[in-house]
Amino acid sequence: MENAKKDVAKSLDLNNLDLLEYIPYLLQDLFDMGTNPNSVLEVIKKHDIIKSPHAKILDLGCGKGAVSIAIAKELGFKIYGVDWMAAFIEEAKKYAFKFGVSNLCRFEVGDIKDIVKTEIGCDLIIFGAIGQIFGDYKQTLSSLSRCIKNGGYLIIDDGYIDDNSDYSDENYMKHCTLLKIINESGFILVEEKIENNVQDTNKSYFKLIKKRAEELKKRNPENALLFEDYVKSQETENYVLENKVKCAVFILKKK
Ligand SMILES: C[S@@+](CC[C@H](N)C(=O)[O-])C[C@H]1O[C@@H](n2cnc3c(N)ncnc32)[C@H](O)[C@@H]1O
Repeated sequence: MENAKKDVAKSLDLNNLDLLEYIPYLLQDLFDMGTNPNSVLEVIKKHDIIKSPHAKILDLGCGKGAVSIAIAKELGFKIYGVDWMAAFIEEAKKYAFKFGVSNLCRFEVGDIKDIVKTEIGCDLIIFGAIGQIFGDYKQTLSSLSRCIKNGGYLIIDDGYIDDNSDYSDENYMKHCTLLKIINESGFILVEEKIENNVQDTNKSYFKLIKKRAEELKKRNPENALLFEDYVKSQETENYVLENKVKCAVFILKKK
């Protein structure tokens, strides 16, 4: 439970666990929270990743279900989404209803680290903008690999550092290291789709988040610093994503 809390905080770039209770309020205006649903749809269609209408598809750390709902709505596939934040799962269910895909989407509260111990035989796993909650990329790929059947796919949305960059950051690795780990972990890189409009998305989302943080500050002046720090940390992370790393959707096929 405590570990899951820390994972969630890490995945949402929170420096302080006290912020967790305010996250549903701060992120209330966002539906997709990291991964661009259109990019995922595009690569699924392009590579004809899902062959059977009975395919087993898992969206780990699904947030409010933006990617799952896009897959269900556009492609008509069933999908199972799990997230630790109960408030996000509630939202996901509401969005699924709104988009008319409640019959295709199952959303449940759960810990990714428990799910990966029990789920097997998946045709596709989505791991969108979760970061290194398993420790590092090698551990992430080995933990997720055991849930995927041979020939099945993993779609990961994450950032990496260009090989010729001198930037270093414990959350991101060099491109060449990433490719080496992918290969050593029993996956083939099918495509790496670079996200080019990160700046525009960040800008509009940041504006919404900042407005909500200002509201919280007025209502809870005793926690003003907490909200100010959150806004600053979002600004810093956006700077890194826009200037220091490349954001990409990786499509991996299990050998
Ligand atoms: C940046 S958000 C991305 C959400 C979604 N994939 C998207 O792109 O819209 C990261 C999500 O991972 C979830 N998460 C992080 N660690 C988790 C864990 N151990 N178990 C379940 N969910 C987790 C968080 O609650 C959060 O919703």
